[in-house]
Amino acid sequence: MEDYDGIQERQDTSRRLPAGWLLFFIGVIAWGVYYTFVHVPIGTWSQYQAYDEEAGAAAPAMTASATINIPPAANPFKGQVEEIAEGRKHYSEMCASCHGEDGKGGMGPGIVGPQYVYGGGDGELYTSVMDGRPGGMPPFKDSLGEKKTWETLAYVESLKK
Ligand code: HEC
Repeated sequence: MEDYDGIQERQDTSRRLPAGWLLFFIGVIAWGVYYTFVHVPIGTWSQYQAYDEEAGAAAPAMTASATINIPPAANPFKGQVEEIAEGRKHYSEMCASCHGEDGKGGMGPGIVGPQYVYGGGDGELYTSVMDGRPGGMPPFKDSLGEKKTWETLAYVESLKK
């Protein structure tokens, strides 16, 4: 005990930092040195390179989903006689059994409007046909594909008049 102005202070040099804390302390210093060399751009690591690697790996998946989710906004074949004639064939082959020859419905709903569950815009109709809809509308992405789907929809459009 030391006495300063009547205040007693314990001078206890025998008690050190507990071994666990000391180990942790040294560990943190070691980790700090490691981290500095590996993740601060004085070493070989570069955040730009790491970003490029990750973005590069993700890029194919991103473009793949983007092409599926963003159809052209408008049917390029609307009013085109030849494509409509093609669409008529696809329609009787692939669609009429469920939606009726005139598109007014059968086992499936009418698809000549004016009301649609999933929307009557070109892009929405395209998505309905290409990706299908949960209530029993099969996807035609593989059997029709992009061009024939637009032809079919151009024909459906012509049924409205
Ligand atoms: C096996 C029967 C079947 C065939 C074949 C079929 N559909 Fe459908 N279709 C349905 C059913 C059932 C629905 C309703 C789906 C729902 O409500 O989720 C539907 C929904 C739709 C819709 C959405 C209607 C709305 O209200 O939004 C469109 C557009 C459509 N079909 C177009 C077509 C076209 C074009 C073809 C031919 C390429 C086709 N369908 C072939 C059964 C069929």
